[in-house]
Amino acid sequence: MKITMDDEKFSEFIPFVQDYVLEPSKEKSYCDEESLKTYGIMPSQKGNVTKDELKAIAEYIYDFYDQEVYLKEMQEKSAFDALPKGEQLVLKAGCYNCHDTVKNKVGPSFKGIAQSKNKEIISVIQNGSQGKWKKFHNMMMPPFKDKFSKEELEILEKWINSLATIEEIKPWSVKNAI
Ligand code: HEC
Repeated sequence: MKITMDDEKFSEFIPFVQDYVLEPSKEKSYCDEESLKTYGIMPSQKGNVTKDELKAIAEYIYDFYDQEVYLKEMQEKSAFDALPKGEQLVLKAGCYNCHDTVKNKVGPSFKGIAQSKNKEIISVIQNGSQGKWKKFHNMMMPPFKDKFSKEELEILEKWINSLATIEEIKPWSVKNAI
């Protein structure tokens, strides 16, 4: 659905964006029920962006964006922002290509790694590993040297270890947020 708003609609669109981004709520949202259930409401951006900036953003969106694309991006961004920092790093670095939180994939699940009480999580992320976990056909964990700062490595380690007792989790509803 392309935004083919007449002037009247456009004049409603700017206040809507200004209001929603600062005071998001379920009632105001145009998202479908299912997405709201899955992702929840975006966090308010109060303090991050001013009303004037939102006006400029809204005008930009109106000029350049397809409404559906825009809503989808807003949903994805707010779902991502709501994740624990450790999981954000995992998503950005592509760890989920080989790992899952609770299921084994190319490599062991993060829950399994946490339960193994491995003391070398940080050094494995930096230097990689191969052959330690017997079930994984000698697949290689690639080194991520220089990819993460010391602080980020500690966040990753903490997040992985926080999954030791997790039951079933969806990427966007991780408990024990760090
Ligand atoms: C190309 C696939 C792949 C990617 C990408 C990958 N891993 Fe792994 N990972 C593995 C495999 C395979 C193992 C098991 C290695 C072994 O048996 O020694 C593993 C093991 C691990 C271990 C446990 C090692 C140990 O000593 O017990 C940690 C922690 C880990 N990965 C974290 C990560 C993180 C964090 C990322 C993203 C930054 C990541 N992995 C990306 C494949 C991958």
